[in-house]
Formats: sequence, structure tokens, C-alpha cells
Amino acid sequence: MQIFMRMIKWTNGTVTTPDQTLLPLKEVTLEIKTVEQMAEAIKNLRIRGAPLLGAAAAFGIALGAYTSKAQTISELLRDLHAAGETIKQQRPTAVNLFWATDRILNIAKTYKDLSVEELRTAVLAEAQKIADEDAAQNYAIGKNGAELITDDDTILTHCNAGELATVEYGTALGVIRHAWTQGKKIKVIADETRPLLQGARLTVFELQRDGIPVTLITDNMAGYAMSKGLINKVIVGADRIVQDAVFNKIGTYSVAILAHTHNIPFYVAAPKNTFDLKHKTTDITIEERTPNEVTHIGNQQTAPNSTKVLNPAFDATPLKYVTGIITETGIYTKEHFQKFNPTFPL
Ligand code: MRU
Repeated sequence: MQIFMRMIKWTNGTVTTPDQTLLPLKEVTLEIKTVEQMAEAIKNLRIRGAPLLGAAAAFGIALGAYTSKAQTISELLRDLHAAGETIKQQRPTAVNLFWATDRILNIAKTYKDLSVEELRTAVLAEAQKIADEDAAQNYAIGKNGAELITDDDTILTHCNAGELATVEYGTALGVIRHAWTQGKKIKVIADETRPLLQGARLTVFELQRDGIPVTLITDNMAGYAMSKGLINKVIVGADRIVQDAVFNKIGTYSVAILAHTHNIPFYVAAPKNTFDLKHKTTDITIEERTPNEVTHIGNQQTAPNSTKVLNPAFDATPLKYVTGIITETGIYTKEHFQKFNPTFPL
């Protein structure tokens, strides 16, 4: 049974989406009515996952349009720009916040001849389009990626690149879901994904709900599981793909190195709007989050008071460890990586 089909919806000036910080124990729907509420939801990971962040950014600007008191087009454009700046400041690493914000603002700028009300409608229509496109892309990623999956595969995934991280269906979990619906007898191993446990809380929740066999491990068990032959493919999502690397949830890099050492294919599933090929690893800011996420598990303190903490939310996996990137138009491999970056060895 599908509980969440469309992860984010707009109804009469209100954006609704599940509060992902409360899952899997509580299923609460957030009602977001202002840009500031959207910003708070993004910052605190109530809404999370790169593709869903893109749709959230777009609907956030639509909220800016509908809550604006602007009387003229130039006043409304100014308010949309301010909404975009607020949204972009919330999380630096996933490209989707920036990509979706810029797409909406660039379109809005070309609509100078519309009335204020018509521009509001056009901004909302573009946000809706971004959401619809994301859903369609994920089904295509699922279909393309499922060709790589065979009967009896056990697939490791890290973090949550599922329905909850997208508008519909998921990217890495979309591939798994598609293979499962084709009748392939597959199993999943989910890394719990400290510090915020997106794997344990969200990936296991989604897969259990769909009846796909899933086993949870702590992050430090992946090497053991690979060395025992318990894993034969890895599929993860991505927050940003640059010329030389894939940015994804912290810990992805370690999984990729382990997979490489054990000769296990390591795939990334992501829509093409996650590519940011103007940039390379050193250009990208990795979000550093509050120390509390490391010194505590939920509300339970697990480290001494005043512990010094490092808490990067993402890491960069060099493309040399990536077997392929599954997109909505096909699977990118080493030949493509060389086009992103001519120094990439074939
Ligand atoms: O901090 P989060 O939970 O937003 O991080 C999410 C991830 O790293 C996902 O793997 C990535 O966004 C891909 S989601 C399809």
C-alpha cells in the first residue's frame, strides 16, 4: 500500500508535505503557508532529499508570490527574488535548491508584460511543472536502472534516496522499486546513516511498506557485509554531481571505497538536473550541521558535555569509484565522465 504518493502538494496557497523528522514513529503532514515556514522546514530537514528540495524551493517561491503585497510587476519580482535568496540560504550542498530557484526566477523575469495576478499564476505553474517533471524523471530512472538489477541481487543503499526524497517514487529506491515490480527477487541492505538516521528511519520505512525485503545495518558494518559476500551492488542518490565527483550523504565516500576494494559495482541514481558540470569538488561548500546531531541520538545525549565535533552532512566520491550514473535518459559511464572532465582516465 502506498501511503505517500506525491510528497509535496499545493492546495489553495498551502504546501503540504510529511514532516520527515518525525518518521517513522509519527506521520504528520506539515502545512506550509509562508516562505519563512518553507525555509525553516528545509533547514531542519522536515523536507529533505535533493529532488524534493528542488520542488520545495519552487513552491517556496510560489508562496512568496501569493503572500506578496506587491501592486506592480517590479514589486512582485523584487519579492520573488527575496524569497529565492531566503530559500537558497538554507542548505548549501544540494544543487537542486539553486537550480529550481534560478529556473523560477529566470522564467518570472521574462513575464514582464503580465499582470501581477497573472505572474503569480505563472510562477505557481512553473513550480508545479518542476514537481511533475521530477516525478516523471524518477520513473524513467527506475526503468533505466532496473536493467542493471538481476535476480538474487542484494543491494546496499545509503541514506534515503526514495519516495520521501523526491516528488514521487525515488531515485536509488526507484531503481529498486522498479526491479521489484518486474518480479526480480532482490534484497536490500540499508545503512542506518548517522547522524540523522535517514536510512534506518526513512529507507527501511519505505521498503517495508512496499514489502521489499530490507535488512538494516549500522554504517560501520558495510565492510563486514561486503567481505562476507552479502552485498553485490550499491546504489545511492546524489545531491550534486560535479566534473570530478558525486556529492551525497556523509558516508557515501567510505561505501564507494569499500565497494571498489571488494569489486562491487557502485551506481549513483540521479536526475540530470543534479549535474553541475561547471564546478569541481573544491568549488562546493559542504554543509556543516549542529554538533548536537553527533553528540546525541534523538534527544539522548551519547557523548560527554562540551565534546568537540565535526559534522559535515555530505562528502564527495571521486568519479573513479563510480561504475555508472543512472539518469532519466540512460546510464552514464566512464566515457561520459571523460566528457565532464577530460583528465578522467578511461
Ligand atoms: O541531508 P539529506 O537527508 O537531505 O540528504 C539526502 C541525501 O544525501 C540523498 O542521498 C540525496 O539527496 C539523494 S535523494 C534522491
